[in-house]
Amino acid sequence: MIQRFSFGHPFPTQSVVLSLPAESGPVPFLTPDDSGWRFTLSEQAAVYGLGEMPRGINKRGWHYITNNTDESRHSEDKLSFYGAHNFLLVRDGSTCFGLFVDFPGKVYYDIGYTRHDLFSFHTETPDYDLYLLSGGNENAICKEFRTLIGRSYIPPKWAFGLAQSRWGYKTEEDVREVARQYKEHNLPLDMICMDIEYMQDYADFTVNKERFPDLAKLSADLKAQGIRLVPIIDAGVRIDPNDPTCTEGVEKGYFCKKADGTPFVAAVWPGKAYFADFLRPEVREWFGHKYKALTDCGIEGFWNDMNEPSLFYSPERLRAFLNDMAALREKDNIEQEEFFLRVVGGAMGLMNSPADYASFYHEVDGQKVRHDQVHNLYGGSMTRAAGEAFADLRPGQRTLLYSRSSFIGSHRYGGIWLGDNNSSWAQLLANIQMMPSVQMCGFLYSGADLCGFSSDTTPDLALRWLEFGLLTPLMRNHSAVGTRMQEYYCFPEVLPAVRNMIRLRYALLPYLYSEFMKAALENTSYFRPLAFDYPDDPDAREVEDQLLLGEGLMAAPVYVQNAHGRHVYLPEPMKLLRLRAVDDYDEEILPAGHHYIRCALDEVLLFLRPGHIVPVAQPANNTSELDDASLTLWSFLPDGESAEYRMYRDDGVTTEYEKKEHWKTLQIHHS
Ligand code: GLC
Repeated sequence: MIQRFSFGHPFPTQSVVLSLPAESGPVPFLTPDDSGWRFTLSEQAAVYGLGEMPRGINKRGWHYITNNTDESRHSEDKLSFYGAHNFLLVRDGSTCFGLFVDFPGKVYYDIGYTRHDLFSFHTETPDYDLYLLSGGNENAICKEFRTLIGRSYIPPKWAFGLAQSRWGYKTEEDVREVARQYKEHNLPLDMICMDIEYMQDYADFTVNKERFPDLAKLSADLKAQGIRLVPIIDAGVRIDPNDPTCTEGVEKGYFCKKADGTPFVAAVWPGKAYFADFLRPEVREWFGHKYKALTDCGIEGFWNDMNEPSLFYSPERLRAFLNDMAALREKDNIEQEEFFLRVVGGAMGLMNSPADYASFYHEVDGQKVRHDQVHNLYGGSMTRAAGEAFADLRPGQRTLLYSRSSFIGSHRYGGIWLGDNNSSWAQLLANIQMMPSVQMCGFLYSGADLCGFSSDTTPDLALRWLEFGLLTPLMRNHSAVGTRMQEYYCFPEVLPAVRNMIRLRYALLPYLYSEFMKAALENTSYFRPLAFDYPDDPDAREVEDQLLLGEGLMAAPVYVQNAHGRHVYLPEPMKLLRLRAVDDYDEEILPAGHHYIRCALDEVLLFLRPGHIVPVAQPANNTSELDDASLTLWSFLPDGESAEYRMYRDDGVTTEYEKKEHWKTLQIHHS
């Protein structure tokens, strides 16, 4: 059951697709308090959700603010990351309910932080819709929520192949070299992502002709090898009187404006930039159709970045800071406090300043709306701009799109990646823990920067992260300029194992793609916490580092350096597959309960659930070469029992997802 309660004058976020009448009775489960709502938590209660946020799968014990933030340090003391995903699910004894706060500004959650037994939340202003979902267990409530918010974005099938990315491929030759090296080392690959270097002066929808003289040819040459180019598009439009995106936007009045009616300016990668008002349908249409410059070159996929929007500084604030520093220059001795607060704090405070976010406006139905009040809609609306335009630019075709910033609603137009993590073991665990939370919120096509984005990775971290990443829908190795090179061919000592793991991903694609399509078409989750399928098992509820993957698999990744095994909890008997490669593994049937399981650096642990089948193909060099007609079936069936698997097979590129003939039933009988 879904109930909607409406307070004040909610902003039309367009997060939901069902229109429900507002109820007038008391809100179930929650008690109103001074500024919002609260719920008393018993000792065993758990709270799930909030999508892209710090901390574990169970969010209890911390506080959070949904406030889309370019946060490059993903430590557990943070309160906000790049996405605003205001859906939570509370399980307390036999009580189980979901809640969705449909609000475009900041929402504050205290989930057992101030008091361990209290969950409370409030919105910045009292205008919002509150949805309460109840009457089923965790999976039923998540499914109901997904019905409310509409079908998740479905990428082309090739987007389930491996993507190699780096901030630092400066020229066409650099890109071709990546493709060459992958081939030479016999490593499968489907995508190479192009970071900001491909643009002319970091201006959207331009190509630097010196470095990339013929993008269409590059794209065609790579596509002939089964590799797609995936360029980045940033939110900030470079201010340049010779750039048509800039001049058109100014002429049409499509950029966000300050109170005096002039366009708001802040610096990002291209230097000073304007910001399109994506909340206006005509602006979305205009900006979205700009992608044509690249689709005309044969490009079929994009990533949208810096769209919180990230602001390095506004010229006014930078000027004030520099003036302040000039005043300090003459001082003989700068006191400690002055140094930290005025110099360091002043410089750091220039970035993503709340005062800047409160200094510009959107136009919504002819009304001015101050940006900070609808801040969380911005990045997702950029995704929407692209997604809506692709339906027109590439009718009937799927276009790959994933974004850094997002809100619930933008899951219908694109996927997400989890932003600028770093090369640390803690971030591998964070990746594992965030996956089920973002999926609950509709972001099925998602993944983190494998090996880690900032700081230097190590060969063992690269391999262990790959052993988890081979299961995530978006599987992309991406890193920051200046860090150690981390393309998968850069680690000779673990290369054979890396190759086996990438090949394992491709071999598992018949299963992974089918499970993704089930999740998208039937509103289920591809990744789930154990607690969702075993709600009556208290030990399953404690598990923070194993995930259920589709119907038949459980993953238990190793995420500790130098570990040669790990503790695994089995809520029921399962078949362990300890895989070194798709055709090289040990199997063992384990009883339910707690186990310590060995797992060498070159091995990955997968568990088959009883009564289930996993179809496995021969590995391929890319998704287009994958033969999913001749399959091996992995299964865990008691003697004499049969099982069926619903496999999804389609062309992987058109938007005709619904056809019945895409489903094929595989059967197996264990004699
Ligand atoms: C941002 C993105 C990162 C990208 C960089 C340069 O930090 O999150 O992925 O590489 O900008 O474009």
